[in-house]
Amino acid sequence: MEKVYIETYGCQMNFADSEVVGAILSTAGHKMVTDLDDATFILINTCAIRDNAEQRVRHRVRELRATQSRRHNLRIGILGCMAERLQQRLMTEEDNLSLVCGPDAYRSLPQLIEQVRKGGQASEVELSTTETYADIEPVRLGSNGISAYISIMRGCQNYCSYCVVPYTRGRERSRDPQTIVDEARSLFEQGYREVTLLGQNVNSYSWPEVGFPELMDMVAAIDPLLRVRFATSHPKDLSDRLLEVMASRPNICRCIHLPVQSGSNRMLKLMNRKYTVEWYLDRVDSIRRHLPDCSITTDVIAGFSSETLDDHKATLDLFQQVRYDYAFMFKYSEREGTYASRHLPDDIPDDEKTRRLNEIIALQGQIALENNRLDVGHEYEVLVEGESHRSREQLFGRNSQNKVIVFDRSDAQPGTYRKVKVNNCTAATLLGELV
Ligand code: 5AD
Ligand code: SF4
Repeated sequence: MEKVYIETYGCQMNFADSEVVGAILSTAGHKMVTDLDDATFILINTCAIRDNAEQRVRHRVRELRATQSRRHNLRIGILGCMAERLQQRLMTEEDNLSLVCGPDAYRSLPQLIEQVRKGGQASEVELSTTETYADIEPVRLGSNGISAYISIMRGCQNYCSYCVVPYTRGRERSRDPQTIVDEARSLFEQGYREVTLLGQNVNSYSWPEVGFPELMDMVAAIDPLLRVRFATSHPKDLSDRLLEVMASRPNICRCIHLPVQSGSNRMLKLMNRKYTVEWYLDRVDSIRRHLPDCSITTDVIAGFSSETLDDHKATLDLFQQVRYDYAFMFKYSEREGTYASRHLPDDIPDDEKTRRLNEIIALQGQIALENNRLDVGHEYEVLVEGESHRSREQLFGRNSQNKVIVFDRSDAQPGTYRKVKVNNCTAATLLGELV
């Protein structure tokens, strides 16, 4: 029996996967530990989306060498997208690694660990067209008991030209809706009050007779006190039908993450995003029409291949127009094996990428602050999550729009809904008081 410590990097999908891994290993008789000092096996669940994500993991693996020299029994394995991308190469490059396991091979982890203990290394990186881990009830590692992720589909086949995900996570496949509803209901019965349905592109969820809007409706019908969120939507597939279902269910949260990537049609074409700026803005209009109080958030890439100052300016203009509540903003990072790495030169100098990125960040900071100021004076229903980082006298929670609100504790309890009136804000947080 091993004492296994899992460290997770990257997207929400990875956090959900780590909970599946926890379940598989617990069932096989291993013990999951929350303190690294207790571990006999460390598993690092990794992200390959940008080079800096990979460098962070490399650095971590090298740092753990010191721990291993003090604890000779300690073994380290790599899971997730880096495992899939680099395969056995990882173990030659980082010789303190014993195990490499890709995102569709987690069921074989118990055998891989056994193989390592017999002496040596082990790896399994086969991708699957069917694996969804639908029958596995995730072990909620490090959960607050209030909010949980439910993975509803895996893989991506959109092949955006810059993106490594289709290669590390394989073909799209959806999970049986009944198992999703059962998992959500069981979480609600355990006291959870919020579930986030996850997939690389949730709008292409598909099961005979159940599309994503129907699935959302089924999950939201479990109980009005269960908040339902989802991520991530691809703009090309965001349907009015989904917006109608959202409008009819107040417990589906008023927040849509809609990655735009660029505000220039020329860039969108090179990125193989399959929509235009006009199409995107039409989807934004439709969201505003169906759900006037919905927040919209995005992802954007600065300095993609051949991006001109005009293309960059088009992105800034689009940000001005949409006025996102939040954005994840990145510098383009070329990924081996993608269409862009083969056909589109990474030709914007790094300092110019940084300059453009900083311009987007500054603009977005200003917009977020202005948006938050519009919330001052309003009351929101907040799901209380826990103590604020700043002070034990204060709690924080989120409103339906997914904005964090901090307020004086008084008699409020985590896991309950409370009305909070906003009376101040920063660009990142709303400050309020219990009503
Ligand atoms: N370089 C920079 N950002 C990327 N993303 C995906 N691939 C890359 C890349 N090669 C960003 C996209 C995506 C988010 C998850 O990561 O904005 O929506
Ligand atoms: Fe990558 Fe595009 Fe798929 Fe998102 S939709 S995971 S950016 S290929």
